[in-house]
Amino acid sequence: MKILVTGGSGFIGSHLVERYQGRAEVIVLDNLRSGRRGNLDGLECRFVEGSILDAKLVRELAEGVDQIFHLAAMVSVPESMEDPLETVSINITGLLNVLEAARAARVGRFVFASSAAVYGENTPQPAVETAVPDPRSPYAITKLDGEYYCSLFAREGWVSTACLRFFNVFGPRQDPASPYAAAVPIFAARALAGKPLTVYGDGGQTRDFISVKDIAGALDFIAGSGETGVFNAGYGSSITVLELANRILALAGSGSAIEHAPVRAGDIRHSTSDPGKLFRSGWVPEHGLEEALGETVAAMREAAGRAG
Ligand SMILES: NC(=O)c1ccc[n+]([C@@H]2O[C@H](COP(=O)([O-])OP(=O)(O)OC[C@H]3O[C@@H](n4cnc5c(N)ncnc54)[C@H](O)[C@@H]3O)[C@@H](O)[C@H]2O)c1
Repeated sequence: MKILVTGGSGFIGSHLVERYQGRAEVIVLDNLRSGRRGNLDGLECRFVEGSILDAKLVRELAEGVDQIFHLAAMVSVPESMEDPLETVSINITGLLNVLEAARAARVGRFVFASSAAVYGENTPQPAVETAVPDPRSPYAITKLDGEYYCSLFAREGWVSTACLRFFNVFGPRQDPASPYAAAVPIFAARALAGKPLTVYGDGGQTRDFISVKDIAGALDFIAGSGETGVFNAGYGSSITVLELANRILALAGSGSAIEHAPVRAGDIRHSTSDPGKLFRSGWVPEHGLEEALGETVAAMREAAGRAG
């Protein structure tokens, strides 16, 4: 089997590449906009440094490929607010280049990395795929648009597609210093360094954190299943940000304080998935929150030890 992973040197992409080691010939297309070449260290794959906006290159790479995982994107909500045109260029024109290449090369399966961001502030929780979407940023709008394009290609019989709406993904290789960093790596890094953890607002906002390894498993599962449509990818369990901070402090054995800062503009209060549709199609998570939190803290402790 041969697979193409766009955005494969990113955080999630590199875990997907790892999952396919020894099972498939892997091609990674990434322009390193937010990914890192080092994420692929020790992994076997053909790395092509280039953009999904290069239609000719994408067409060449899609030849003879069985499955495409489209993860390349402009991934930052704040950046998308600053630059909607760039967001549309990468997330829509880029996606269409890859979809068209898949159609031309008769690629068997196409899986698109969508996001829980397509839901909005007022979505009933836990969110089901049939809820009325309410995207609040150019990033979220392009993810929803992307789903519509994937559905169109499947409905017309051009390419068999599936979309996973990732909830809050975390795990090893997520960089706490990156401008795109999320709560788990920041909390873990600060807890290990004995620095205070900043929680925005009262910390009562809930999130459905899911291990990057279970996301890689879900991508693998849905590609092999032949199912089309849109699926939530989360555990369906919610944890408050304050609870998360305390669990990470305990795992790190840290006495760091928790400080509260004003609520950030645009932050959604509650975000939890109803993953029933993906479960009913046969997906079983292999890791879970506790195990993955422990592993993430351990990986960061080791990295900090190497650096210092
Ligand atoms: N991390 C999360 O919690 C989360 C949640 C929902 C959805 N997603 C989606 O999952 C996917 C992967 O996200 P991630 O967290 O691994 O982020 P990431 O930034 O680590 O990965 C995105 C990758 O896309 C690459 N890229 C950007 N523009 C490109 C272009 N024009 N051509 C080729 N490559 C390009 C980047 O260099 C990077 O390696 C994205 O589509 C993102 O929107 C992530």
